[in-house]
Amino acid sequence: MLTDELQGRLAKRIDLRILEKERKKKSEKDGFGKNKTIDEVFDKSTMMTVSGLKNSGIISYVNGAVGSGKESKTYWAVGPSGNDLALKIYLVSTSNFKKRHPYLLGDQRFSKIRKGTRHLVEIWAQKEFANLKQCYEAGISCARPITVIKNVLVLDFVGKNGVPYPLLNESEVDYGDYQEAISIIEDLYRKARIVHADFSEYNIFKTEKGLMIFDFGSSIDARHANAKEFLERDIKNITKFFVKRGLTVTNPADIIERLTK
Ligand SMILES: Nc1ncnc2c1ncn2[C@@H]1O[C@H](COP(=O)(O)OP(=O)(O)OP(=O)(O)O)[C@@H](O)[C@H]1O
Ligand SMILES: [Mg+2]
Repeated sequence: MLTDELQGRLAKRIDLRILEKERKKKSEKDGFGKNKTIDEVFDKSTMMTVSGLKNSGIISYVNGAVGSGKESKTYWAVGPSGNDLALKIYLVSTSNFKKRHPYLLGDQRFSKIRKGTRHLVEIWAQKEFANLKQCYEAGISCARPITVIKNVLVLDFVGKNGVPYPLLNESEVDYGDYQEAISIIEDLYRKARIVHADFSEYNIFKTEKGLMIFDFGSSIDARHANAKEFLERDIKNITKFFVKRGLTVTNPADIIERLTK
């Protein structure tokens, strides 16, 4: 025979189980269950990460999206002192990351990689943060990194009133811009010991104070086995852009030679 007290406790537990099941069913229907994604950006875990940023006072609120690529979406957010921030949210729903494994293998800083896209995406965000920090601390012209939590990277907003500065691609350019771009590549290599590996007119802002480089997700350590290959590609890519704009430029081979000898 069960005592009344025990019966009561059992009933409570059964109630809880039923409630839990109902909640799960409902949340799955809402698209809000574990591992479900409401839209391509805000799955449950990403929402929790953004709430965490709010609770810890790093951000006050998030405004609209300012950019979206294949693997991430960037939002304008506002910090507690009214300062503008950028949240770069790496998409967990994309499968493109699997292709990125080769960039991480061979980088000693990220040797313990588990399988699974979510983990890979988080490692990727951490990698971008680490690269950005290394560059910022070496005095490269880039946004100040604030923090990275899971797939969400927080950095200073580069722009005005929630509008990012124009990209180099969208701007008038002159010989000074070319020299500045090449000198950023050189400083990245010599001072920050980083090769950007995606250096292009689409990953450079043109601000009133000069060029600012961003999107360090693909960047690699200058000691990486393929670093020179990527360095060459960066120099050739940006040279091509300035040539297309009608400028007379230095032969990329001479710059590479000067930089790596
Ligand atoms: N710190 C920032 N401040 C303001 N806007 C930013 C910042 N970082 C990125 N953006 C905006 O977001 C866009 C995409 O950023 P980023 O290149 O880092 O993402 P991505 O996913 O690599 O995109 P893509 O695949 O197109 O290269 C930029 O073109 C820019 O408009
Ligand atoms: Mg980019």
